Amino acid sequence: MKVLLLGAPGAGKGTQAQFIKQEFNIPQISTGDMLRAAIKAGTALGLEAKKIMDEGGLVRDDIIIGLVKERIAEADCANGFLFDGFPRTLPQAEAMQEAGVVLDYVVEIDVPDAVIVDRMSGRRVHLSSGRTYHVAYNPPKVEGKDDETGEDLIQRDDDQAQTVQKRLDVYHQQTEVLVDFYGKQSIETGSPAYIKVDGTQDVEVVKTQVLAQLN
Ligand code: AP5
Ligand code: ZN
Repeated sequence: MKVLLLGAPGAGKGTQAQFIKQEFNIPQISTGDMLRAAIKAGTALGLEAKKIMDEGGLVRDDIIIGLVKERIAEADCANGFLFDGFPRTLPQAEAMQEAGVVLDYVVEIDVPDAVIVDRMSGRRVHLSSGRTYHVAYNPPKVEGKDDETGEDLIQRDDDQAQTVQKRLDVYHQQTEVLVDFYGKQSIETGSPAYIKVDGTQDVEVVKTQVLAQLN
């Protein structure tokens, strides 16, 4: 099964990805997590990406497309995967279609901008797994520590209010077109199935609604 999670920064893609990948036993492909891993490892890609990410911009399409093509060629992707934060521009979506990737589901998590800024300021992340928490809405069992490993949680460098606003602007300018792109395909050809959920509901409610429609 091939699924795409679509939504603004902070809509809850990473949060819901954890549930979907467990339920269907497919790997999560988060380009944001991959870029943060590259930054941490100090690779050439990481060095190039860091400045762009800190400013809330998008990393170049050709770099991202190359990264994802390599990733989906790996053995664990043979039975499908979950895209989180990719495709995020029209050229990225078209490159996947040209590569023969047929998505079964597009899940749009809809959250208005005003809710997002509040979510980002309270977000805490476990860097190596991508597990995401919120100090108020989705707290870890022990403050500042990951539930499964007990390792430290961090705040992302791009979660300052100013950068969040820039990321939202970029979403509306470059990513939101994909709502129409996949929505139209779904209506015209029946594929991918298009699922839209209200992402302002509690994490558990969103989870139940998403899993019910994927099952
Ligand atoms: P990326 O890591 O993909 O970030 P993003 O898309 O901006 O999304 P986020 O990870 O910020 O939010 P999310 O939707 O996963 O929300 P989360 O579940 O964490 O990308 C980062 C950067 O990398 C980009 O800006 C760009 O520079 C670069 N990049 C990445 N992919 C790229 C691409 N394809 N092309 C070019 N550049 C790329 O939730 C947020 C918070 O809310 C958490 O604290 C969570 O606990 C809380 N929360 C979640 N759900 C709920 C709920 N229902 N109720 C209350 N709180 C909730
Ligand atoms: Zn995320």
